[in-house]
Amino acid sequence: MKMNLIILLLSLLSCSILSHLLANPNSIVDFNFPAVFNFGDSNSDTGEISAGLGVHLSLPYGCTYFHKSSSRTCDGRLVIDFLMDAMGLPFLNPYLNAIGAPSFRNGCNFAASGCTVLPATAQSNCPFSFGIQVSQFLQFKAEVLRLQSETKELDKYLPPEDYFNKGLYMFDIGQNDLRVDYDSMPLDQVLAFIQTILAEFEAGIKANRILVPQKLYEEGARNIWVHNTGPHGCLAQIIAKYGTDPSKHDEHGCLSSHNQAAKIFNLQLHERCKKLQSQYSEANITYTNIFAIKFDLIVNCSRYGFKQPIMACCGYGGPPLNNDIMCSQTKVLNGRSVTAKACSNSAEYVSWDGVHLTEAANRYISTQILSGKFSDPPFSSKMPSLLNLEF
Ligand SMILES: *[C@@H]1O[C@H](CO)[C@@H](O)[C@H](O)[C@H]1NC(C)=O
Ligand SMILES: *[C@@H]1O[C@H](CO)[C@@H](O)[C@H](O)[C@H]1NC(C)=O
Repeated sequence: MKMNLIILLLSLLSCSILSHLLANPNSIVDFNFPAVFNFGDSNSDTGEISAGLGVHLSLPYGCTYFHKSSSRTCDGRLVIDFLMDAMGLPFLNPYLNAIGAPSFRNGCNFAASGCTVLPATAQSNCPFSFGIQVSQFLQFKAEVLRLQSETKELDKYLPPEDYFNKGLYMFDIGQNDLRVDYDSMPLDQVLAFIQTILAEFEAGIKANRILVPQKLYEEGARNIWVHNTGPHGCLAQIIAKYGTDPSKHDEHGCLSSHNQAAKIFNLQLHERCKKLQSQYSEANITYTNIFAIKFDLIVNCSRYGFKQPIMACCGYGGPPLNNDIMCSQTKVLNGRSVTAKACSNSAEYVSWDGVHLTEAANRYISTQILSGKFSDPPFSSKMPSLLNLEF
């Protein structure tokens, strides 16, 4: 199942981090890749679901940076946009973008909002679940190589063959799988469910029974980054849906059961990443603790210049969640038609629409990722203490 892939990635990550640290304590990663191939959900969707399903995200989505709808579930840029920027590369084009001769020279983005690791069902918001995204990549690569063998005319739009080897493969998926009602689930069921997600993550391309990490490795992938999943129990929409009762909250107002599930998922993902690293010593597998970065931002938000850690900037209903109506949507409440609008100071909010973070939060998170301190193996020039690593 799809969970296998996540599990595999998790074990790859955790094994590799430790063995890297021990074998290579001064490892300095040059954050400079010629191309990025990205897989995930709305956290890194740069227009895939818009193109694929014909969904238009209207303003105020996009209001901060693009000043028009940018097909991102944010007021501005996503973490992936900041990371591309840090590498001096243009924003990543979505795989399904067909209009205006999009360039895939520096990579391709397969991430689609609402997507899960587990295969999509008729009820899913997104049909492009993880295994499909990986299949799309394999198709992408095969087509690129075929076109290049036929003509030189498309070279400026397509990555040269060696970019598939030198490029960065990024994964940020799992948050939508973990959106379930934990109150009705005993712990052993939660654990089994998480195992299933991770197994699917590893197995990925089900039709061919291919193990995703092995397949990508065989296809030449050598630089693999896995972002773990964030504290989704701190998202206003999750709190509104699964538990406004304060007895279910931790001292920061986040839903404990959901953050607990995220932590278990992350621990296992880390283990799987470490295991993968030990299996594929020629590859560099980096596991990044996004949970720790985001939780610190929420808990200590004022220290980083934010005022609202949980309440949505764009929404309706006011404190504590401002999430009675989803951003930009209109509903009739008490016989009156109301539209969920954006706050005037999104840079003071961590949460943009109750599910996705603001550009200001994404910018801060990107600086923390690039510090290397939250990654295993860490990639700063200094040797971080093993004790500081959060697993
Ligand atoms: C992996 O990282 C090490 C340094 O951390 C570097 O020397 C090596 O070239 C990298 N391997 C690949 C395949 O990029
Ligand atoms: C909040 O900041 C304090 C002081 O730096 C730190 O000790 C603590 O770990 C932070 N909280 C989180 C959740 O990271």
